[in-house]
Order: sequence, then structure tokens, then C-alpha cells
Amino acid sequence: MTIQAITSEEMTARRAAVMTALDGSVAVVFASDPSAAHAGGFRPHPHFEYLTGIVDEPGALLVLDPGSLDPRRRVMLFLQPRNPEAEHWDGYRDPINAAMRTATGIDAIYRLGSFPTFLNQAVRRSKSLACLHPFALHTQPPSPDLALFNEVCQRICGTQIVDRAEVLANLRATKSESEIAIIQQAVDITATGYDAVMRSVKPGMNESDVQTCIEHAYLINGGQGPAYDSIVGAGINSTVLHYIANNQPIADGDLICIDSGTRLGSCNGGYAADITRTIPANGKFTDRQREIYEIVLEAELAAIAIARAGVTFTELNQAARGVIEKAGYGDYLVHGIGHHLGLEVHDITPEGPLKAGAIITIEPGIYLPDEKIGIRIEDDILITDSGSKNLSEAIPKSIDDIERLMADR
Ligand code: GLY
Ligand code: MN
Ligand code: MN
Repeated sequence: MTIQAITSEEMTARRAAVMTALDGSVAVVFASDPSAAHAGGFRPHPHFEYLTGIVDEPGALLVLDPGSLDPRRRVMLFLQPRNPEAEHWDGYRDPINAAMRTATGIDAIYRLGSFPTFLNQAVRRSKSLACLHPFALHTQPPSPDLALFNEVCQRICGTQIVDRAEVLANLRATKSESEIAIIQQAVDITATGYDAVMRSVKPGMNESDVQTCIEHAYLINGGQGPAYDSIVGAGINSTVLHYIANNQPIADGDLICIDSGTRLGSCNGGYAADITRTIPANGKFTDRQREIYEIVLEAELAAIAIARAGVTFTELNQAARGVIEKAGYGDYLVHGIGHHLGLEVHDITPEGPLKAGAIITIEPGIYLPDEKIGIRIEDDILITDSGSKNLSEAIPKSIDDIERLMADR
């Protein structure tokens, strides 16, 4: 499969959109984690990944200075110095050269040592600094750009700090054609995992066998591996919302709630799929499981039916909750109806109703621990002006379709 990628032209257009919204202010976007190893578990802040495509430069900074008199320096990238000894342990890094400029679409790439001087010059001219990172809670450390700007304001008088945190939230929440194509691919790869599980799971297996099966399918079909810790809960564990131990035997008669999705894109980054299916371990729902399953499915379909641009999560929630409350199970739906999906599984959420191009999850559930019945159904939904498109439609979810596929085992 040819994996879709975001082009440097699209990255350049994203930066241009932010520059316009800055209205002359200077902004700094942080990759974060300066002490992380360059290879391995590092993931940049998604704002940085969104604007640069770079996922392997801990500590890097992107400076946006729309008022610079030198057009080449309106976008500047600052990278940590190279350290040959660290690279021998952690992985080799690219030099700053023409290839890097072409790949990123950024001309002005420097090492971090020159960042303070560039920033000082830019702020003395613009006297305005714009926060793009999401603001922290007052119980957390301040967001990295605000922390830096507070320092700058103590050194350059008459400088204002303005709130532009909505700019990247709005941009990231409206997916481009190529982002939609990547997330559709991530969903399609995730579908191969659900297919493999439904064709093979049996009582007597362990939850970990199901996890291995689904995640193996991601890797052999071009995915980057799970986008988040897969949930595979059988029996009572199907009712534990954040169950990730995935280490218990699966009994005959158990339901298995599987919440998993692959990540797809560049090696350390990329976009997430987030799908849940609940299946009977022995291939046949009991009458009671069937009764609850049909309520959850009706609730999910009710929310999907009203999904379109202009609708809010509150309205989607009411549509699903209305079905579940009418059936008498309102106390057993304890979580929200869904969330945005993108570079993050729980992607950034802008203010206001959904816009065309948003990709969200819809994921109602009913959880009855006393009966060992936990049922959640989750699909990934593209919002359009006229309605929505279910990107995960192909993954079986009606009782008939699940039982038919499982009968092939
Ligand atoms: N897998 C996390 C969620 O569904 O929100
Ligand atoms: Mn999920
Ligand atoms: Mn979800």
C-alpha cells in the first residue's frame, strides 16, 4: 500500500495560515522534551509536527515572525546542536543542508544557540508575542510559549502577549484532503486487525492473544502500531473503561470489548484511528447481551444520523443518551459521546459547533458490571456540510454481521 503523506507544500500552507492569523505578532512553537533521545519514544508536540512534519528533533523550535523585513526569516527553525557521541547511542541526525530545506519547505534553519538573538530582534521590532500552545491549568506548569514570553517581557519593555491559542485548534480540527486520506487508511488498516480477531478469537484464549492478533495486523498491513494502549477486556473487564492490563483468560459466554486503532504516518508521528467493537467470545450473543447491544447500536446510529457541520458534541450526546435513557440505562453510560481525532487520539477541540472536515469519534456504551456486560461501539466519522461519512463503516458491527463473520472460524 502506498502510504499517503503530507507534502511540504501543505506544511507551508499551514504555516502561512498561522502567519496571517498572527497579525504581526511573533510566535514560537515548541517540539518540547529537549532532553529526550532523538530515536525511540520521543513524539513532538502535535502543533510542531503539524507545522513542520518533523518528529525526531527534541527541543526544536519553530519561530513565526510575519513582520520580519527579510522574507526568508519569517519562518525560522532552530534545532539542537549535533552531538556525535549521543548520536552513536541514539541514532544519526541529519545535517542542516539543502535536502532538509527542501523536505521542510523552510529556508532559515539554524542551531538553537542563535535563537535568543533572533528572538530579541524580532520582539524589539514587533512588541507583540502570540501564544499558540494550549494554555495549561493553573495547577500545571505554564505552556512553553507563555513561560518563554514572560521571561522576554521582563527584558524588553512595552511588549504585549496575546492569546492566539484558537488558531491551531481551528486549523487542526478541519482536516485537509490528505489528512482525511491518511486517517481513512489508518481506519482501513485497523479494519484488518478487527477482521483477523473476529476470524480467530475463541474461548480459552487470553486477552493478550487478541491484543497481539490485532496489533500484528496493523504492523503487517503498513500501520505504525497502536495509536494508544489497546483495550481488550473480556467478561467483567469489558466494563472497565480504561482497562489495559489485557492479561486475563477469555471464557465461553464472555463479551470482549476491544478498543484499538493504528497510528499511520511518519515513523514517530502520524494520525490515529480509534475504533471499538464488542464481540461474543464464542461467536454468538446471548439474548441479554443482544438486548443491550441493540440499545447501544441504536444510540450510536442516532448520534451518527444527526452528525453534520453546525452540530455540537452536546447535541450528539443528547441523541445517543436519549436512546439509552429511554431504554432505562441512563445511569450506565458514564462517558462522553466522542472527541476529535487526528494527530492525537483525543485531538485538540476548538470552540463552537463542528465544522465540515472535522473527524470525530462517536462511541456510546452501556456498562453493567453485575452482569459482566460492557458494550461500547465506536466509529470514526468525517463531518460534512450535508451530513457525515462513517470512515469505519466496513468494520462489522451489526449482530448479524459479527456472528456471520465469526461463524467462519
Ligand atoms: N480509545 C480511547 C477512546 O476511545 O477515547
Ligand atoms: Mn477508543
Ligand atoms: Mn475514542
